[in-house]
Amino acid sequence: MLEYIVYGVLLVLLVQLFRLWMADGDLSLMWYERFGESPAKLAGKVVWVTGASSGIGEALAVELGRVGVKLVLSARRRDQLDRVKQRCVETGKVADSDVLVIPLDSVAYDTHAGCVERVLAHFGKIDVLINNSGRSQRSLFCDTSLDGDRFILELNVLGQVSLTKAVLPHMMERGEGQIVVTGSTSGVIPTPRTSAYCGSKFALRGIFGALRAELHSYDIDVLIAAPGPVESNVVQNAMVGEPDKSLNLDPKLDPIHANDLPASRCAWLFMVGMVNRLEEIWISRNPYLTYAYIFSYLPFVASRMMMTHAKRLSKKKQ
Ligand SMILES: NC(=O)c1ccc[n+]([C@@H]2O[C@H](COP(=O)([O-])OP(=O)(O)OC[C@H]3O[C@@H](n4cnc5c(N)ncnc54)[C@H](OP(=O)(O)O)[C@@H]3O)[C@@H](O)[C@H]2O)c1
Repeated sequence: MLEYIVYGVLLVLLVQLFRLWMADGDLSLMWYERFGESPAKLAGKVVWVTGASSGIGEALAVELGRVGVKLVLSARRRDQLDRVKQRCVETGKVADSDVLVIPLDSVAYDTHAGCVERVLAHFGKIDVLINNSGRSQRSLFCDTSLDGDRFILELNVLGQVSLTKAVLPHMMERGEGQIVVTGSTSGVIPTPRTSAYCGSKFALRGIFGALRAELHSYDIDVLIAAPGPVESNVVQNAMVGEPDKSLNLDPKLDPIHANDLPASRCAWLFMVGMVNRLEEIWISRNPYLTYAYIFSYLPFVASRMMMTHAKRLSKKKQ
C-alpha cells in the first residue's frame, strides 16, 4: 500500500515538473492566467502602443483590438502602422475611428508632448501607455562603439522615459492609469554580446520600479513585462557595433531565437499582466525562464554559467 502512495506522489511531482518546464510565463503570471481577471475586461480602454509597426507591438495591437480596446499606434513607419490598423479593424472589435495612428520617433523627445495632445484631442483620455519600441544588439562590448552604446540606451531607455513623462501629468490628474514597459529577460540575465541592450533593460527595471513606488498614491500601476525570445524582427534589426549596422539574420539561425514564442501568445500574456495589475512578469519558454529564476535566486551559479558561455563565444570568434 505504502509503495503505491510513494509512486503516486512521485508521479504527481513528475507531472508538475513537466508542467513547469512547459510553462511560458513565470509562476504568478500562469496563476493569474488561470484564476485571475480575463483580458476581455480591458474592453473600452484607450491603450497607446509604441513600436506597433511590427513584432510584439503589432501583436499587442491586434490582440487588444480583438477584445475591443481603443488603440493609438505609434512607431516611425507610417505605412506599416496603417497596415496594422487595417488588421486591427478587420480582425478586432474596433471601428476605424477607434484606432488612431500617430507616427512617432522615440528619440525625438521634443515631439512627445505634441503627440500626447493629439491623442487627448481624439480620445479625451489615455488609460494605458505601452512603451514597447526598441532595438537589440549583437556585438561584444569591445566591438561596440560608444555611439552604439549611446544609441541603444537613448532609444530603449530615454525614449520610454520621455514619453512616460509626457503622458503622466494627464494620468496623475485623473488619478488612474497604467504604464507598461517592454523589458526583457535580458534585463534579468546579463548575456554576452548584448551589453548595451542588457544595460538598457536592467535600467528600465530600475527606473520604472522606482516610479511604481512614486505613483502608488495616484492609483497608477507600472508593469514591467519581460519577454524572452519571441517571434518578431528583433534579430534582423539588432545593432552590430554601430547604430547604422544591423544583423539582418534569419531568426531561425540565431541560437537564442530557435524556439521563439509566437508574438500573439506573448501579447496575450502582456494583457493578463495588465488586467490583473501585476508589477513584473516574465514571458518565455524554457530554458530562458529557468535561467531567469537562477539569475534571480542563485546569482553565483548563474554568473559561472555565463562565463562558460562567453568563453565558448570568444573561442568561436578566434
Ligand atoms: N522579440 C524578442 O525576442 C524580444 C524579447 C525581449 C524584449 N523584446 C523587446 O520588445 C520590443 C519590441 O521589439 P520586437 O521584438 O517586436 O522587435 P521589432 O519587430 O524589431 O519591433 C521593434 C519596433 O520598435 C520600433 N522602433 C524602432 N526604433 C524606433 C524609434 N526610433 N522610434 C519609434 N519606434 C521605433 C519599430 O518601428 P519603426 O521601425 O517603424 O520605427 C518596431 O515597431 C523591444 O523593446 C524589444 O527590446 C523583444
